[in-house]
Amino acid sequence: MSKEKSHPPQYYQDYLGLEKILNCQHLISKEYGKPAHDEMLFIIIHQIYELWFKQILFELDSVLDIFSKDEIQESHIGTAVSRLDRVIEIQKILIDQIHVLETMTPMDFLDFRDFLIPASGFQSVQFRLIENKLGLRKVDRYTYGGTDYHTHLKEPDQAKVLASESSQSLFDVVEKWLERTPFLNWGETSFWKEYAQAVADMLAEDRQLIKTNKTLSKTEKEKHLMEYEKTEASFGVVLNETQHNKLVQERKWRLSHKATQAALLILLYRDQPILYNPYHLLTKLVDVDELFTTWRYRHALMVSRMIGRKIGTGGSIGTEYLNKTADKHRVFRDIGELTTFLIPRSALPQLPQEVENNLGFFYHVQRN
Ligand code: HEM
Repeated sequence: MSKEKSHPPQYYQDYLGLEKILNCQHLISKEYGKPAHDEMLFIIIHQIYELWFKQILFELDSVLDIFSKDEIQESHIGTAVSRLDRVIEIQKILIDQIHVLETMTPMDFLDFRDFLIPASGFQSVQFRLIENKLGLRKVDRYTYGGTDYHTHLKEPDQAKVLASESSQSLFDVVEKWLERTPFLNWGETSFWKEYAQAVADMLAEDRQLIKTNKTLSKTEKEKHLMEYEKTEASFGVVLNETQHNKLVQERKWRLSHKATQAALLILLYRDQPILYNPYHLLTKLVDVDELFTTWRYRHALMVSRMIGRKIGTGGSIGTEYLNKTADKHRVFRDIGELTTFLIPRSALPQLPQEVENNLGFFYHVQRN
């Protein structure tokens, strides 16, 4: 039997490395003989963000690890869901703590702002790692002045973020996992044929609603019907592979056709016990994506109040740049927008018995 390694008693201060953490708030304003009271808050809040970013990366790495395997057990999906849940709770704190920063007024900020140039949250390496690990692609990034974000970083940091750009992201591994889902194969029955018919019925009903709407004029009805054609055409993303691929080429859709179909099936048949965890996983990914977007908008609003139309200390066009990234830097938008293709439970094609059996849980009753 192996003997357990004995360990000395721990001292709170040392175990948490507080000596280091509590002694790394150096006020640059003080150094230059113009001490600004609020710089302490400014430093501490950024440090807290970076600590939470570290925890988020730790959780994302473990989820990436789970999904990088060829075979993923049901219980592991549950673990991934609970780790993403933790990320989500941290993100809520990240959004909330902007209130604390806002107790610093724009005049207080001006007392030390110029000492910071050209440093900016724009240079947060961990923030870029989170973006890349989630799956934000280089082609989808909004750049300012035509320069890549990494050129604003020091050499060793550049190497770190560039390595994360070319590694598998959460988007990549989840897409592959979706493509492998066994229930995509429905044997002899053609689910998609039945689904297309159910969609056609639903859309016909919607069209009828517009036509019989007494509050609309003839011209308004024609306009609404024309608009509705766009919704009808959007079903091609799931129903027509050629149309889907064209949208992918135009960068209007990202998830592969197979993965899109699998994700939609999970959403449609989420009541099946075996789809419970996959359904929650997809929901959590959309939550994480949405909360980052919310943080981006919240940060942009705070910045707009703090510096108005001034440029950022990092040199960007400030709020305008931040609003653009908030709108553009989404990773799991496709999964969120799959709700376009949901049809009512009452119209759902019946699952073939064999598929239902494969999806359900079975309990073997032991007889003595
Ligand atoms: C007085 C408070 C703050 C102001 C005025 C401010 C301003 C700005 C501005 C103008 C930018 C755009 C880049 C630039 O030109 O600098 C930016 C980017 C950024 N800031 Fe802040 N910021 C503040 C606080 C924070 C805090 C507390 C964090 C937390 C880590 C943060 C994280 C970021 C990040 C991650 C970016 C890059 C966003 C992207 O590229 O999409 N900022 N900030």
